[in-house]
Amino acid sequence: MTDADFPARRARARERLDAIDPHKRPGGAEADPHRREWFEAVYDLADEDPAGVPWAGLAPHPLLLEWLASRSLAGLRALDVGCGLGDNAEALAAAGAAVTAFDLVPRAVHWAQRRFPQSAVTWRAADLFHAPPEWRGAFDLVHELYTLQALPDTLLADAARALASFVAPGGALLVISRARDEAQRIDGPPWPLTRAQIEALAVDGLRLETLEDVPASDSLVRHWRALLRREGGR
Ligand SMILES: C[S@@+](CC[C@H](N)C(=O)[O-])C[C@H]1O[C@@H](n2cnc3c(N)ncnc32)[C@H](O)[C@@H]1O
Repeated sequence: MTDADFPARRARARERLDAIDPHKRPGGAEADPHRREWFEAVYDLADEDPAGVPWAGLAPHPLLLEWLASRSLAGLRALDVGCGLGDNAEALAAAGAAVTAFDLVPRAVHWAQRRFPQSAVTWRAADLFHAPPEWRGAFDLVHELYTLQALPDTLLADAARALASFVAPGGALLVISRARDEAQRIDGPPWPLTRAQIEALAVDGLRLETLEDVPASDSLVRHWRALLRREGGR
């Protein structure tokens, strides 16, 4: 639920967060290479106001909803990576999956839990780069939306290996991200991904099954929606 002042508070939050983001300053990236301190600061400064969390749409992403509309996830184990305030994890659960959702920032996870008190989702605070060992090969569907594009490109190879490690035999990784052409200049973060960066997620036994280039519309900028699969299983 948003109020009339929400857009103004969101705009002020973006300004404030950009001002403290070392990745917005030339040579600043070393100060917080994984952006962990910045992500913590986002949720701290928001102080329970979702306007303060720039990516909080307070609804599942339309490209995830569209993908889910034509399938059931009944009986599948799903993992939502970098779950933020939890709307996408809830959509995966509503589609029938047994969902684990995690975020680096405990405050985000607690906030998601409070927003969805009846939720069947298992909420966890965890770091993509140091995930619990029991998640290895444990999920039929791994869903990642907007976390990769929030990470510096030096981390993408490690992130790809981490994401692949969660996928069970026969399972899949679904990635939704803003898209850009190789030659396009960007003023990130966020850093929309290139086709090559999406293709480079096919590591450690994952194969790119589909890659949709979703053109910009009135409501969305250009996006990728990619499905990568691991052979095996039933
Ligand atoms: C751009 S937001 C997207 C959130 C959510 N997927 C959505 O679309 O609303 C990225 C999220 O990933 C989390 N994150 C960043 N680095 C992470 C890491 N290393 N491990 C787990 N989560 C991380 C952030 O705290 C943030 O909530």
